[in-house]
Amino acid sequence: MAPPLTQQPTTLSIRRPDDWHVHLRDGPMLAACAVHTARQFARGIIMPNLVPPVTKVAEAAAYRERIRRAVPAELEFEPLMTCYLTDGADPAELARGKEEGVWVASKLYPAHATTNSAHGVTSMDAIARGLEAMEKAGMPLLVHGEVTDPEVDIFDREAVFLDKVLAPLIKRHQGLKIVLEHITTREGVQFVEAHPGRLGGTITPHHLSYNRNALFKGGIRPHFYCLPIAKREEHRLALRKAATSGSPQFFLGTDTAPHTADTKECACGCAGVFNAPVAMQVYAQVFMEESALDKLEAFASLNGPRFYGLPANEARITLQARPLDAPERVEVPGGNKSIVVFRPDTPVGWSF
Ligand code: NCD
Ligand code: ZN
Repeated sequence: MAPPLTQQPTTLSIRRPDDWHVHLRDGPMLAACAVHTARQFARGIIMPNLVPPVTKVAEAAAYRERIRRAVPAELEFEPLMTCYLTDGADPAELARGKEEGVWVASKLYPAHATTNSAHGVTSMDAIARGLEAMEKAGMPLLVHGEVTDPEVDIFDREAVFLDKVLAPLIKRHQGLKIVLEHITTREGVQFVEAHPGRLGGTITPHHLSYNRNALFKGGIRPHFYCLPIAKREEHRLALRKAATSGSPQFFLGTDTAPHTADTKECACGCAGVFNAPVAMQVYAQVFMEESALDKLEAFASLNGPRFYGLPANEARITLQARPLDAPERVEVPGGNKSIVVFRPDTPVGWSF
């Protein structure tokens, strides 16, 4: 007899995925976190918002080496490096880094938009020459899409950015490929969809799992706080639809952003969700809930490489349909600090 249609598979095997947006930090934090990303992903687009930021080819090459050394020898992981754009970004440095195979993309942080973005860009005019060099070199621009005007409500900053900054930018730089990172709104989804071939969008596991109510459920919960901040339920539903649609424009980017617990559990806590140890388990849960497990491989393992013009991974991973089995915290070596691991409020039925 044929199994009932509701029956779920007990294992799930897909090509090894990549993470197109990851914060690995440096020093002891890198030592604590690298293994968790490398266990799940073959490659990662490494965010450059260190202190000080990674703006030079030589700094990125040295950081790449530190990441490679931080990954246990038995795991294969390729760090893909990005350049942190600052006002007056040097077109020659951008072109050279791409040519030498160090930069894969550049990252646009509007100044003061998020963690370690103080050196970010104050106006698009200030990076126009850099963006022209990137167009010529075929180097994608990765965008933290939020305006920083304190007059704009924090929940509207992504939607306003699309109109005020991104729309003029894509007109002005017709040859630039752009990733709108960690989309959190329906407007973000629609903006990406309106520009096939030029725009991609990454979606995090946490923005798929909870809406803004989770930040305040039973009290203020700093481990659910990240930027862009989670929005209303209607936006979460739009993200779930986009991620599971099979559209090649949407792909996986965890935005795993570790901060030690003491820097989140305080009067002015840092933004960032540390999801690396549970990322694929949570994505699988979301895709299962949306009856779209057959679309997970495209989102996690195919659409990203296609956007970047890289081959998909040949190796495979297998997830097991059993309750999430992941640590609550990850210890940071050399002190008594730890990082709290993200866990949605709703059950996750997948593990490695
Ligand atoms: C990131 C971080 O901590 O570096 N934080 C976050 O909330 N996502 C920065 C970022 O990507 O915005
Ligand atoms: Zn990020």
